[in-house]
Amino acid sequence: MDVDAARRIIVALDFDTAGDAEAIVARLGDAGQAYKIGLELLTAAGPALAARLAAEGKDVFLDLKLFEIPTSVAGAVRAAGRLGATMVTVHAMAGIRIMEAAVRAAADFPQLRVIALTVVTSLTDADLADVGVRATTAEQVPRLARLTRHAGCHGVVASAQDAATLREHLHPGMLIVTPGVRLRAELAGQAATEHARPADPVAAIRAGASHIVIGRSLTRAPDPATVLADLTDELGNIAATRRG
Ligand code: C5P
Repeated sequence: MDVDAARRIIVALDFDTAGDAEAIVARLGDAGQAYKIGLELLTAAGPALAARLAAEGKDVFLDLKLFEIPTSVAGAVRAAGRLGATMVTVHAMAGIRIMEAAVRAAADFPQLRVIALTVVTSLTDADLADVGVRATTAEQVPRLARLTRHAGCHGVVASAQDAATLREHLHPGMLIVTPGVRLRAELAGQAATEHARPADPVAAIRAGASHIVIGRSLTRAPDPATVLADLTDELGNIAATRRG
């Protein structure tokens, strides 16, 4: 197995019990090398699973979506680092001093990357206007991406649609973590008229994502381990072609 490719596919453990999350981790076995733990599982089950996965050598993305005063953000990032997390998220909308505090706190943990969210995909231009932001989401996303670069963040969360255009606002080494993907087989079953179709994982990587986050499309598949292994092979082949 191409471990580098496997670590680029982050499986979202969006469950409300540790048992459900552990069941999918067990089913994925060696195919699963990277997991995202969000606020639901963390609040319901605590950080023990994150620590255990990290101790087993898995990549652990703690999706904390931090938006707090710098001292509190730095404390939460250090706590994530001590758990062995490899990625932690902070809101770019919180401002540059908060992102800088996160990056400074992460410096004590060589494995830990600070990933910033720009505009949460569920927000519309009208939602931004409601909170006093006059820019559109299309203007706000690159603006915040530039701010993440100035803050020294290691990467951003971005949709596959935004990934290619965001690249020009980021340092070349910055990561782009892309959620909202659907397996090709699932997309093929959707009505052609449906707009805003999500990208499939390969399309997201081709658009410039360094990592993808995949949840229900994979975890609800009848045979998730085989689907994930096949996807890893496909991404590994893309990387090999690029190198070759
Ligand atoms: O939809 P799916 O189950 O694949 O979602 C997996 C993860 O991706 C969720 O935990 C959510 O945080 C994230 N996501 C996102 N933006 C979207 C869709 C999903 O950030 N548009």
